[in-house]
Amino acid sequence: MSLQDKVTIVTGGLSGIGRAIATRLAGDGARIVLFDAAGESRDDGMPGDRLAAQLGTAAFVRGDVGEPGDVDRMFDTATSTFGSVDILVNNAGVTAFKSLAELTVEDFDRVLRTNVRGAFLCAQRAVARMRRQPQRGVIVNVASNFAFVGATDAVAYCTSKGAVVSMTQALAAEVGPDGIRVNALCPGATATEFNRIHRARPEIAAEWERMTPLRVDGDRYLATPAEIADAAAFLANDTSRFMTGAALVVDGGWNAK
Ligand SMILES: NC(=O)c1ccc[n+]([C@@H]2O[C@H](COP(=O)([O-])OP(=O)(O)OC[C@H]3O[C@@H](n4cnc5c(N)ncnc54)[C@H](O)[C@@H]3O)[C@@H](O)[C@H]2O)c1
Repeated sequence: MSLQDKVTIVTGGLSGIGRAIATRLAGDGARIVLFDAAGESRDDGMPGDRLAAQLGTAAFVRGDVGEPGDVDRMFDTATSTFGSVDILVNNAGVTAFKSLAELTVEDFDRVLRTNVRGAFLCAQRAVARMRRQPQRGVIVNVASNFAFVGATDAVAYCTSKGAVVSMTQALAAEVGPDGIRVNALCPGATATEFNRIHRARPEIAAEWERMTPLRVDGDRYLATPAEIADAAAFLANDTSRFMTGAALVVDGGWNAK
């Protein structure tokens, strides 16, 4: 699957799923802009500039997806460095693993700000550029299987991911006539820093194991970031060229139960 020279923005691209997507798409020939609020990867502390150098034709921009000025600066860097924006992967996301009683309004706003407002800001700016290009573009919004099922300690998160799927449908309806495709990618439980402390709790690990029917490589029930990146590559690529407004669930069957 060739993405040769496709200019691809990956938000939250320094760690976990975003890093795996950036690595996979770079391997398929894409030019990558890593955009991240942190200066280093949560996985291994690798600085953004070093990760960009490792990917080959890539740049790192530090900034917050929820901040319009940061998002504008990142898009300006993408166009001035590489000349276009062909693919946007709205991946940056946060959660608050808190019960309803513990969840503060600040927690709720923080989760919605990154996961929903951030995806909106990046999509709006991406579409504005894609509409001006002869080769139209692709947007992949990383949502979650928790857009479709509930879970404990996840009211803000589930709300935000449901919104991302609805936003995906609304965007697809509006920009389809421009030839721009917008799909949601909905991973299930994936082994990243995002949930490491949470899933270290025996009762959470037991619940996730019980909820995931599929077993891979023996008894593994968590996805690897690379497995999620494979699905992102499918959505970013022309192999999915008649797909838009869809939600691709990659969750080992959690939603099937
Ligand atoms: N890990 C899972 O089990 C899982 C499951 C379903 C969906 N997801 C979704 O996948 C996406 C990536 O998750 P992950 O597990 O790789 O998380 P992660 O915490 O490992 O990495 C997230 C990255 O996003 C960056 N980030 C956070 N807030 C940001 C902001 N405001 N602006 C820019 N960058 C920001 C972080 O610095 C980090 O580098 C998220 O949207 C998450 O909701 C994760």
